[in-house]
Amino acid sequence: MGEVIDPAFIQALEHRPKPESVQANNVPLIDLSPLGAREPDRGALESLVAQIGQACKNWGFFQVINHGVALHLREKMELVSRQFFAMQKEEQKKVARDEVKPLGYYDTEHTKNVRDWKEVFDFTVQEPMIIPAHDHELREMWNQWPHHDPPQMKEVCQQYGDEMEKLGHKLLELIALSLGLGRDRFRGFFEGRTTSFIRINHYPPCPVPDLALGVGRHKDAGALTVLAQDEVGGLQVKRKSDGDWILIQPTPNAYIVNVGDIIQVWSNDKYESVEHRVKVNAERERFSIPYFMNPTHDTMVEPLDELLSSRNPAKYRAYSWGEFFARRKLSNFKKLDVENVQIYHFKNY
Ligand code: OGA
Ligand code: NI
Repeated sequence: MGEVIDPAFIQALEHRPKPESVQANNVPLIDLSPLGAREPDRGALESLVAQIGQACKNWGFFQVINHGVALHLREKMELVSRQFFAMQKEEQKKVARDEVKPLGYYDTEHTKNVRDWKEVFDFTVQEPMIIPAHDHELREMWNQWPHHDPPQMKEVCQQYGDEMEKLGHKLLELIALSLGLGRDRFRGFFEGRTTSFIRINHYPPCPVPDLALGVGRHKDAGALTVLAQDEVGGLQVKRKSDGDWILIQPTPNAYIVNVGDIIQVWSNDKYESVEHRVKVNAERERFSIPYFMNPTHDTMVEPLDELLSSRNPAKYRAYSWGEFFARRKLSNFKKLDVENVQIYHFKNY
């Protein structure tokens, strides 16, 4: 009896999910409708900014509703995602990524050197993505799309990407305001061709959901993540107050937003990027679609001057986002013996 599972998927004891996860739905739920109001209401906007600030500080994670992304577009995006992963493996492999074409389909990602129980499809939002290669050269990364099926996959993904960019900027503006900065303080880091990308995650049913994870515990390296999850659920966030793993209950048509490592550095640790992971499920497959909002490759990431003082000196040295990202992107082709590059490598003390 029992299936033989590749040991590469098995988590160390201390990282295995508990059979019942804490069923608390207390990641803040924030209503963005003041942004869409015809007449700007100052009080409502101020209260929204305050809620965003509290959520970033206390949780690093929140959900948003009335975000302005059309439901029919999200549904189309979810449909092509299901259609893509329902195709024959050999069709998916036609758009498989490799070292020359690092975008597209793959199923071998390792998080902290343990294999994730998932398969993914990655595409960049502003094609081609430009990242540094060795010897100060730049490299272009192009999307790969299936030729016929699912119909319209490319168009739907591109349209969805445009909507995510708009929502991402709205959220960044609110975050800037919540830090006491000008609304457009972050704009410049995203002018030109960004390195933002979208990932379609498919988590097939797993025969050993107590031993493996869909994605092992990690923090997102970019600026901001905006994620659509389906009704199955499985995303867990490490609660800052006590370190418990909290399940984010699916809320229909909401987006889950989390700050990434770059906002942690920009804010000089005021808004920390929080660990999260994905539980898998023995019966049901699950889909999620994160948009990883990342600056241009030539962005030097460092704490913002306006937030520093003699009592709050910079906690990080500047680092090149492009080089950081390229090292991450290319290193996850293979299982490494050493830890991936992390922001604490740039800590000042
Ligand atoms: C990720 C991630 C969460 C999810 O892809 O970085 O954290 O719910 N995904 O799929
Ligand atoms: Ni993540």
